[in-house]
Amino acid sequence: MASLEVSGLSVGYGPVRALRDVSLRVPPGAVVAVLGGNGAGKSTLLRAISRTLRFHRGAATGGAVVFDGRALDRMNAAQVVAAGVVQVPEGRQVFARMTVGDNLRAGALGARGGRKENAAALARVHELFPVLAERAHQRAGLLSGGEQQMLALGRALMARPRLLLLDEPSLGLAPLMAARIAETVREINATGTSVLLVEQNAALALRLASIAYVLDVGEVALSGPADELAASDEVRRRYLGVVDETAAEDAVRAEAVAPTLRRWTP
Ligand SMILES: Nc1ncnc2c1ncn2[C@@H]1O[C@H](COP(=O)(O)OP(=O)(O)OP(=O)(O)O)[C@@H](O)[C@H]1O
Ligand SMILES: [Mg+2]
Repeated sequence: MASLEVSGLSVGYGPVRALRDVSLRVPPGAVVAVLGGNGAGKSTLLRAISRTLRFHRGAATGGAVVFDGRALDRMNAAQVVAAGVVQVPEGRQVFARMTVGDNLRAGALGARGGRKENAAALARVHELFPVLAERAHQRAGLLSGGEQQMLALGRALMARPRLLLLDEPSLGLAPLMAARIAETVREINATGTSVLLVEQNAALALRLASIAYVLDVGEVALSGPADELAASDEVRRRYLGVVDETAAEDAVRAEAVAPTLRRWTP
């Protein structure tokens, strides 16, 4: 299994500095979470890894991105997919006027492998998300938000990724649907795919991940084991919605009795 190493990465959009000297590692087989508020640079980080920055008029100004010993920063977006690193972009971005089935087939285009591998990948996606098989001939734009997120995930899986880059998969979803997506991410990870998960929903991300980073205005402000971060005052206050000291103390006391931030268990 392969690891991702991002070192000293800096990114700008014209005069806007979006990332400054960001270093991060996704160990083989891990789920790593990146937390941070609006504009912290989370999507920018994923775009830099997937080499899609230039579609947003951005560019890396320094640093290196290496996956499985290969320099992704010397590749184009299609080569990154072929190398096994596949992004699910912010806001799903399914092809609304194409059918669900064609969306999935489009996901296999960039990947290596023939008809047999594609059929196996499709069977696996249908097993994870039966609704995508039921709606295969329907236009993707008619799916609900949660179903579109499933389709976006399914489309990425069609490329048989070794590392999935997920940009806020729970955004805009009802809690039950967000939990469903989280469970699927867990299943995907259990079959050997590493995951780099960007989320504003810190509680969900910290349950899924073993390691987490906090981005603040383009820089890594905190990093460490997810359970340690989940217990830290700063993360609790700023990202887990614990608003004041008394509430924080109460929450800590409550957690000592019934831990609310334990690792995700199905
Ligand atoms: N295409 C762009 N052109 C110019 N500036 C941009 C562009 N995309 C992002 N930025 C800026 O770069 C910074 C980081 O943005 P980014 O979208 O990476 O943040 P984010 O953490 O993903 O935020 P959100 O949680 O809102 O999705 C912000 O200051 C943003 O305004
Ligand atoms: Mg974003």
